[in-house]
Amino acid sequence: MNFRLAVNNDINHIIKINSHTVKWPNSMIYKEFKLNLSKSFVLENNNQVVGYVMLRKADSEIDIINFAIDVDFHRMGYGSLLMNEILKTFNKSHKIFIEVSINNLAARNLYNKFEFKDISIRKNYYNYNEDAVVMIRENGIA
Ligand SMILES: CC(C)(COP(=O)(O)OP(=O)(O)OC[C@H]1O[C@@H](n2cnc3c(N)ncnc32)[C@H](O)[C@@H]1OP(=O)(O)O)[C@@H](O)C(=O)NCCC(=O)NCCS
Repeated sequence: MNFRLAVNNDINHIIKINSHTVKWPNSMIYKEFKLNLSKSFVLENNNQVVGYVMLRKADSEIDIINFAIDVDFHRMGYGSLLMNEILKTFNKSHKIFIEVSINNLAARNLYNKFEFKDISIRKNYYNYNEDAVVMIRENGIA
């Protein structure tokens, strides 16, 4: 298993995984990838990209804005591995925020497992009139 910063060659893998999961328009993926305050990481298994995360870093806060595992690899522990790597890299010194659809039980369960707490609801946050839950993991949790 390998967790590393994404490079240009990874963008097609990210786009493919995104197209079956989070479903951002490709233009948003490209834009985020190039943004200065944004960082993208991939999780590889046997040199195959099985998941990715896009996050924004500002001072001591991290905002996870896109997080997905290839549908062919769901429920095999990769989401947990990816989150573990993110926490190892950032959680000592950063608060980590995530917004997630209120109906996305898979992701909410995963984040709960890693001690993210719900802090607020954003009404009609998504353009299909679905609420978002904002979750936080305070820094320094072992
Ligand atoms: C959410 C997601 C990243 C989970 O990845 P994964 O590799 O399947 O997760 P894991 O196998 O590590 O599972 C970890 C925990 O997540 C929860 N979980 C994962 N899939 C679930 C499902 N379909 N239903 C309910 N809980 C689920 C469980 O608590 C699970 O622990 P358990 O296996 O001990 O019950 C994956 O489903 C995904 O890519 N979804 C689409 C994209 C997405 O929703 N991203 C989040 C946007 S904020």
